[in-house]
Amino acid sequence: MYYPQEIVDQVLAANDIVDVVGQYVSLKKSGANHFGLCPFHSEKSPSFSVSQSKQIFHCFGCGEGGNAVTFLMKYENATFQEALKSLADRAGIRLPEENYSEQARERAKEREELLKINKEAATYYYKMLRSPKGKAGLAYFEERQLSQQTMNAFGLGYADGSRSDLVAHLRKLGFADDLILASGVAAYDEKRGLHDKFFNRVMYPIMDASNKVIGFGGRVLGEGRPKYLNSPETPVFDKGRNLYGLNIARRSRADHFILCEGYMDVIAMHQAGFTQAIASLGTAFTDNQAQIIRRYVKNVLLAYDSDGAGVTAALRNIGILRRAGLTGKVVDMRPYKDPDEFMKALGREEFQKRLDNAENSFFYEIRQMEGSYDLKDPASRTQFYHEIARKLCIFTDEIERENYIRAMAEKYYIPQESLRKEVAGYVMIGEGEDTGTARPPQARGAQEQQNSMPSGGMPDPSDFQAERAVYSRPVSLSGERRLGAAHEARLRNQRLLMTWLSDDPALYPQIRGIINAEDFDEGLYREAAGRYFEMLEQYFVDPLHMASGAAPIGTISPASVISIFDTDAEQTEAAALFETRIEGVHDIKERTAALKDVLLGIKKATLDRVMKDPETAGKLDEILKLKKILATIPGMNLKLSE
Ligand code: CTP
Ligand code: MN
Repeated sequence: MYYPQEIVDQVLAANDIVDVVGQYVSLKKSGANHFGLCPFHSEKSPSFSVSQSKQIFHCFGCGEGGNAVTFLMKYENATFQEALKSLADRAGIRLPEENYSEQARERAKEREELLKINKEAATYYYKMLRSPKGKAGLAYFEERQLSQQTMNAFGLGYADGSRSDLVAHLRKLGFADDLILASGVAAYDEKRGLHDKFFNRVMYPIMDASNKVIGFGGRVLGEGRPKYLNSPETPVFDKGRNLYGLNIARRSRADHFILCEGYMDVIAMHQAGFTQAIASLGTAFTDNQAQIIRRYVKNVLLAYDSDGAGVTAALRNIGILRRAGLTGKVVDMRPYKDPDEFMKALGREEFQKRLDNAENSFFYEIRQMEGSYDLKDPASRTQFYHEIARKLCIFTDEIERENYIRAMAEKYYIPQESLRKEVAGYVMIGEGEDTGTARPPQARGAQEQQNSMPSGGMPDPSDFQAERAVYSRPVSLSGERRLGAAHEARLRNQRLLMTWLSDDPALYPQIRGIINAEDFDEGLYREAAGRYFEMLEQYFVDPLHMASGAAPIGTISPASVISIFDTDAEQTEAAALFETRIEGVHDIKERTAALKDVLLGIKKATLDRVMKDPETAGKLDEILKLKKILATIPGMNLKLSE
């Protein structure tokens, strides 16, 4: 939901960033700022600074920065809404309700009720597991070597043999039958009426990213069919947009997630300390789930079962990850069936080794393909090479493609030049593999190519759609940012001025006629400067403040400027505008001279730009004006605060 800027500002104003950050990072005051060890990169001496007057943080080491909302977004891997909500709660501010239509209001109300029912049901199963009626369930989990702590962390439960106790319990709590049915924890038929959906099963509550129970998986004790019974999709349970374990994994500090096939895999991994493990929900992995993962990490390690279905699913998901711009690697679990069994047999150190040695997903795809060709037979071998060439076309980034061409040529003894030519040919005629998913091996037949979806799961429509999106790698930040020295110097001047102004807002009235937002580079810099100048303007329009010259705090808020930007990358960049330091400048004289240099630098850059501008209208006037300003700066009598 979109919140108006005033609300965001109100929430920011009600939460002192020093307290907010102080909950996570131990801070020490030093000069105007508080310093601590940066939570976003590892360091031994503190370069992470929090400014109380500006209400922003900035790390001089790694460059991360932003306001209190940004901090929570980064630290808690939260969305903007979640971060704002938690700060609002902290300050006792109620965020405005969405502007609901009648219908939307009703839907929201229904969702709320369904969540309540799910929560009550989870509590009911949870308690039963820990009661005399739950003995069989507890024995089952213990047999699978789950600790009490793990059972609690995942809210595991048990549904005993009764077919109607949960329904009765929910009715007693006042829930209407239609809602109980809609929640998916009950089913209806003529003979039995409304009755419990789950019985004689251990229960795995499925939670969304914010820990709300949205559905259940129920497993039979031992053998039996179906092995897992899952809640149906409901207005609160969208299987393609949630991931098992994400509520915990999102807080793990790892730079990747481990994607597994099953609930038990996730649980076993977490118990062994790999809290970055997640799984899809009894249905095939979807593009939407990949997009959700992307909010938290950029790398995914696939820890799928080592059987045929697992390989097929891994191959399919590599394509999905690639389309989402995520890097995939495949973890080799052999000779064990799945992470759960592996962990029990070899333990966490060995598993960590497997993670460290996870195979690049492209290599994995080619290796799987290889199995269906007979490399001793020249005809088959040729075919295999052609397939490799076709597949190399998924790399639209030339450098990356070249790297893979070399790797493939080396690994499979293909002359580099001919492979390169063939790839180029395929690229030209648009004949290459452009799906990012491996095509079915031709030679081995279909037995290992069946549906990757576990029985009992819901079909995923994207399984059957032609996948035609071309893999395009996002341009790397470092590549984009490689600026010329002059450009870099210009931006630095702009940052220095903004920092200066925010350290000492009383400077503003003195440079008011000299500098304006147009002097800042188009885009983020100009927008931020424009907004900040607006605040200063508003504040200093009041002659009282003009006269007092005291540094005003609160109304002129860098933190608020930062919140006009949506992404945390932008917020970080905006924060750097307010925290750029200048070295070797100590006394007032030096500082005044440095400030004049900065002002001159900025205005010269503007003059440069205007001179180069092919637009002629009004150009002469502007040039003259700029020259006049440039001439006045050296003689300005600037008063800086101590
Ligand atoms: N699944 C399902 N319905 C089934 C079988 C499986 O929904 N009849 C889903 C479940 O989400 C399960 C996942 O597919 O977690 C993977 O299946 P499997 O590997 O059999 O499950 P595990 O979680 O490994 O279960 P266990 O170790 O208890 O056998
Ligand atoms: Mn298993």
